[in-house]
Amino acid sequence: MYLSAEEERALSGEMGGALAAAYRVLVAVGELLGAGRLIPVASAHLSGVNYANIGDPGLDFLEGFSASARVSVPTTVNPCGADLYDPPSHVPREFLGRQRRIRDAYLRMGCSESFTCAPYELENSPPPGSHVSWAESSAAVFANSELGLYTNRESGVSALAAAIAGRTPEGGMHLDENRAPGYALEVDPAAPAISGSYLDHQLIAYYAASRTSADVIALVGPRRPPRPAMKLMAAAVGAAGPSSMFVFSDSPPPGVEVERLTPEDLGRLRREMSGPGPIDVRGSMAILGCPFYGREELSLVAGALGNGAARSSPRLFVQTSRAIESAAPSAAASIRGSGATLLRCACYPLSPADEWLGASAIYADSMKAVHYLRKRGANAYLRDSREILAAFSRSGAT
Ligand code: F3S
Repeated sequence: MYLSAEEERALSGEMGGALAAAYRVLVAVGELLGAGRLIPVASAHLSGVNYANIGDPGLDFLEGFSASARVSVPTTVNPCGADLYDPPSHVPREFLGRQRRIRDAYLRMGCSESFTCAPYELENSPPPGSHVSWAESSAAVFANSELGLYTNRESGVSALAAAIAGRTPEGGMHLDENRAPGYALEVDPAAPAISGSYLDHQLIAYYAASRTSADVIALVGPRRPPRPAMKLMAAAVGAAGPSSMFVFSDSPPPGVEVERLTPEDLGRLRREMSGPGPIDVRGSMAILGCPFYGREELSLVAGALGNGAARSSPRLFVQTSRAIESAAPSAAASIRGSGATLLRCACYPLSPADEWLGASAIYADSMKAVHYLRKRGANAYLRDSREILAAFSRSGAT
């Protein structure tokens, strides 16, 4: 891979050990991708924040590396494992202490105090056509599929390297020639997905991504849904497989593998993911906002809770960022006023929150949340947000 004279100097260590380490990562990734050179990035988004995921080895690395490493482009970071700014009493003190040290390491490196998996909501939204380096699969897939950005699905380490160097290898999804569909899922027009339920949109995206390793998926039949549904679909694609982007198409692109999803297939998947019967709130908890809610979704939830009039269970967790809370203060206050728990920097699908609470079942409106919760053995069920809100606010269960 070609490196400029300045990049060669950085790689050699002349400009500091942290920058040299970043270049070593970028060169290794670039060689894997067959990239010809490095290109500047407008921003970076980092994963590797939740203590439940990275543990003590990640914490030790970040504390050591952050002594000298500094980011050189606007850099947002993924959620923590618990809300550090208003910690609920069920979070163990030990966990909070270690999570705070991880937060402080990222802030020391110059990252913004964002702690969100939807960095494109207010904090990190370069213009379409920009090249970025984003970890967090839901955000990367959304960036390529909805925002017109160019990014590979970075790991926490490669995105951190790009944040420090301000560059990324020009390969993979950064090249237009790699952004054509390699797989198509044709959805039977009779399938109820066309009815507009976000659950079905997610199930279609999840099914497609679980069937292919193509970088780009074409969905044939469904129309592009509103942005909140695109966020959920991007998260489902990121959870189910390695694809980096999905597009909508009226007919299968020529020359690509085509599969068909029948109404029966979709019904089967829906039953498998939703579980039986009505929501049973006793001993359960619910998570909304995976990926983190923006202003639009937060206002919809506040409205569904009667703008504070409903009595909600504190086990109804609504996830968003501090920036969105500040931008939508009355919606945030309404949700809190109802008794629900507003989390402003925490990802509960990837934390042991169900263990902290002794919850026997978890309801979520996000296929990604259900995927990861089930992966670690939890009884998790995909339900429409309206159904979850009705069940957890009607009951006032604790
Ligand atoms: Fe975000 Fe956690 Fe879901 S990082 S996309 S809330 S699993």
